[in-house]
Amino acid sequence: MTALLDAAERMDREELRALQLERLRTTLHHAYTRVGHYRAAFDRAGLRPQDCRSLADLARFPFTTKADLRDNYPFGMFAVPEEQVRRIHASSGTTGRPTVVGYTEKDLDTWADVVARSIRAAGGRPGQKVHVAYGYGLFTGGLGAHYGAERLGCTVIPASGGMTARQVQLIQDFRPEIIMVTPSYMLTLLDEFERQGVDPRTTSLKVGIFGAEPWTQEMRREIEERFAIDAVDIYGLSEVMGPGVAQECVETKDGLHIWEDHFYPEVVDPFTGEVLPEGEEGELVFTSLTKEAMPVIRYRTRDLTRLLPGTARVFRRMEKVTGRSDDLVILRGVNLFPTQIEEIVLRTPGVSPHFQLRLTRQGRLDVLTVRAEARAGATQEQRAAAAASVAAAVKDGIGVSVGVEILDPGTLERSVGKFRRIVDERDRPGS
Ligand code: DLL
Repeated sequence: MTALLDAAERMDREELRALQLERLRTTLHHAYTRVGHYRAAFDRAGLRPQDCRSLADLARFPFTTKADLRDNYPFGMFAVPEEQVRRIHASSGTTGRPTVVGYTEKDLDTWADVVARSIRAAGGRPGQKVHVAYGYGLFTGGLGAHYGAERLGCTVIPASGGMTARQVQLIQDFRPEIIMVTPSYMLTLLDEFERQGVDPRTTSLKVGIFGAEPWTQEMRREIEERFAIDAVDIYGLSEVMGPGVAQECVETKDGLHIWEDHFYPEVVDPFTGEVLPEGEEGELVFTSLTKEAMPVIRYRTRDLTRLLPGTARVFRRMEKVTGRSDDLVILRGVNLFPTQIEEIVLRTPGVSPHFQLRLTRQGRLDVLTVRAEARAGATQEQRAAAAASVAAAVKDGIGVSVGVEILDPGTLERSVGKFRRIVDERDRPGS
C-alpha cells in the first residue's frame, strides 16, 4: 500500500507542518503583493505577510467571503496577469453574480494531482475506466474529475450529467469500474437501471466517488447495497479548487482526509469567527497553500463539520459535512438540516430515498413538509405507517413537528446533478 502513496502522503506530521508553514508564508506574500483586495484587508487589520511566523498566526488574518469574490467580479481576485490564466470556472450562484475562479497551468497540474490522489484513495487504480457523470462546463465537477482520472492513468468516459437512459447503456457497454457522480444523480441512475430491467448489482462498477452535495451514512448504505459497490465521499468547492480538496479512503470510510499539503483547514465558530479546537463542530475555512492564479486566504465555506486526526493518511480528516449554513432551516426556533431528515427517511421501511422538503407559510407560521416517495410495492397501510413513523422520528429526534406526505413512486423531480433538497414556497402568494 505504502508504495502507492505519493511523497506528501508519506510525510510525518512534523514535516507536513513545516511544509505548510513555508507554503503559507509564500501564499500570504503572493496574495498581499498581487491582489488589491488582500492588500487592503491586511492593511486594515494592521498585518503584513511576515507577521505569520507560525501556523497558529494565520488566525490573526482576515477572512475572505463569497461577497468579497462577488465584489471583485470577474477577475479582481486574480494574482497573475490574465494571459497566465489557462482556465476559468464559475459557480452558478442562485442569486446575483456568479463566483469566478481562475487557474494557471501549475494550478491545473496541482488539481489533477489531488484528484488523482483522491481516486486512488477511493480504491481506483491505473488502467481502470472511470465514468464521469458530474456536469462538464463552468461547474468544476466534470473537468476536475476528468483530468484527475487521466492523471492517475485511468480511461475516462466523459458522460457529463443528463441523458440518463444513455448513461445506463454506456455503463453496460463500456464496463467502467468507477463512477464519479452526485449521490442524488446516482439514485436517478438506480431508477433507470431498474426501469431497463437491469439488476444494478450486476454492473461492472466497484467504486462510486460521490460529492458536490451533502449525503449521509444512511445514503451510503443504501447505495452500497443497491449497487454492490463501495461508496466514498469526495469534497471540494470551486473557490478553493474544485473536487479533490478532501477525500474519504475506501479502507476506512471514516470521514475525508484533507489534502493538507495544498489546502490548510480551520474550523471556526460561525458567529464569532473564533478558531475552534480539533473535534468541535463549526464552519470550515480554507487557505490555499500552492495556488497561483487565485490564492484564497481563510475562505469561509459555510460548510459545517469537525476536524479529526488522520487515520489512513497523515492528513487530518473532516467529518462528513452536515450541511451548509445556507441550508439550515429554522422552524419555530429549532435548527434542522436536510441531512437529518435524510437519515430518518432512509431508516424508515416502505420509504424510498427520494425525498424533498417543502417550506410553506400558514399565517405567521413556517411549515415544513417532508415529501417522500413510497418504495415500489408498499401498501396503503405501510405508507400510512411510514408517514407516522417519519413524523414521530422528526419530533423525537429533532424536536419539531413536520408534515409528511408519502407519494407514489416516480412523483418527485429527479436530480441530474446537485439536487435542490429544499423547495421554499414561503414567498408564494396564498401559501
Ligand atoms: O461542488 C465541487 C465538487 C464537484 C465537489 C464534484 C465534489 C464533487 P461548488 O459547485 O463550488 O463545487 O460547490 C461547493 O458544494 O461548499 C459544499 O457545500 C458542497 N459540497 C461539495 N462536496 C461536498 C461533499 C463543487 N462531499 C459546495 N459533501 C461546498 C457535502 C459538499 N457537501
